[in-house]
Amino acid sequence: MPPEDFLVQGRRILEWISEYLGSAGRYPVLARVRPGEVRASLAPSPPREGESLDDILRDFEERVVPGLTHWNHPGFLAYFANTASSPAILGELLATAVNANAMIWRTSPAATEVEGLTADWLRQLLGLPESFAGFINDTASHNSLYALAAARARAFPEAGEQGLHSLPAGRIYASEHVHSSIDKAVVTLGLGRRGVRHLPADDGYRMKPEALRAAIEEDLAAGVRPVAVVAVAGTTSTASIDPLPEIARICEEHGIWMHVDAAYAGVAAIVEELRPLLAGWERADSIVLNAHKWLFTPMDCALLYCRRPEALADAFSLVPPYLRTPEADEARDLMNYGVALGRSFRALKLWFVLRYFGGRGLADRLREHCRLASRFAEWAQASDRWQLMSSTLLGLVVFRYRDPEMGLDRNNQANERILDAVNASGDVFLSHTILDGRYVLRLSVGNLRTRREHVELAWRRLELEAARLK
Ligand SMILES: Cc1ncc(COP(=O)(O)O)c(C=O)c1O
Repeated sequence: MPPEDFLVQGRRILEWISEYLGSAGRYPVLARVRPGEVRASLAPSPPREGESLDDILRDFEERVVPGLTHWNHPGFLAYFANTASSPAILGELLATAVNANAMIWRTSPAATEVEGLTADWLRQLLGLPESFAGFINDTASHNSLYALAAARARAFPEAGEQGLHSLPAGRIYASEHVHSSIDKAVVTLGLGRRGVRHLPADDGYRMKPEALRAAIEEDLAAGVRPVAVVAVAGTTSTASIDPLPEIARICEEHGIWMHVDAAYAGVAAIVEELRPLLAGWERADSIVLNAHKWLFTPMDCALLYCRRPEALADAFSLVPPYLRTPEADEARDLMNYGVALGRSFRALKLWFVLRYFGGRGLADRLREHCRLASRFAEWAQASDRWQLMSSTLLGLVVFRYRDPEMGLDRNNQANERILDAVNASGDVFLSHTILDGRYVLRLSVGNLRTRREHVELAWRRLELEAARLK
């Protein structure tokens, strides 16, 4: 594409993005397409001759965009909300343009060093000690896999050469509310499904330290080798935070790797008065948290902090002759800390976010989200129809419709019907989870553009649909 055409089309696309971001609320937040519909609307085979950008953009606007669920929509209150903020989009655009691949330092010194610096800036904002080295990968799922691979390398130093064959069984401990990515990591690491022990949680959906201690002691007596304890800071269902200081103490006593999955709640430590919720995580060996959840950075961008980067290198460093360089001793080659060789310049968008908002700007926005969630929780609490299902932590409210005259099944069906009807409105999108056999609703405030009016709209829609049940 000639540079003059690039400029014309680039301006046009930036205008489209600017208009889209300014009016994301005019789209139905939840896509209204049926499975297969988007694909069927597009050419089944690639063009033989190149096409004009006009034609490509027309298909994007008319066929792709209507098939999107709009995470940028201010009424997106499902899962853990996530926003593509404007500075992050611009940073991403530049990262794509320069096409840096930081597989080793030499292949992109600046991308390697900006990644280290950005992770370190965020570490400072979170108040974590300097002993944590930070890496930026795609997702919390992969980061947990890498951290647990490092823990496995430490628990089974022999496995690096001979594999796990003929070694004792290894175990990872987590509460029953741990994210499925941990189970997937354990299976991927060859520890089998039985390699995770899901411990019963307390009535706040947090790990019970005494259950952890008992499980470890039982395993040790049976010759099972503990590999790691995974504590969750912000469970997916209720944003509950496991008792981190007690878990740290048990891990320290037994010399077991402590991994903290703070994919959602970790960024709360940027807010001074919320930081104590995370106390104890500074004693972990590794921590994951997502910038692509509550830190206004678009997919994908997830941080891995590790106090033992050499254990990550033990698990993953395997340098073929063609990637050896004279500077390897003084520079960090990022390929040695995970599975992938190629590495995009993800740090740039996060660096833009940290600079553009600043620590105070980020904290103000996170605080406001917590305030909006608390308002919603107050409305639910004040109503006879609704029941809060866990204490409201951070930006998440977990609640359900409850008719005392109906049994569990009928109440569950009622909640499902309410959710479907509210989500069909196109104005707001909430999600659900199951807690102790109950179908419950989740409202998660985390989008940069969500204001009180959107949370009020969700409340009005819920009330309306609940009233319609009668
Ligand atoms: C607690 C927790 N851990 C891990 C994940 C997985 O995150 P990712 O999609 O970045 O792999 C999630 C996703 O919601 C989560 O809630």
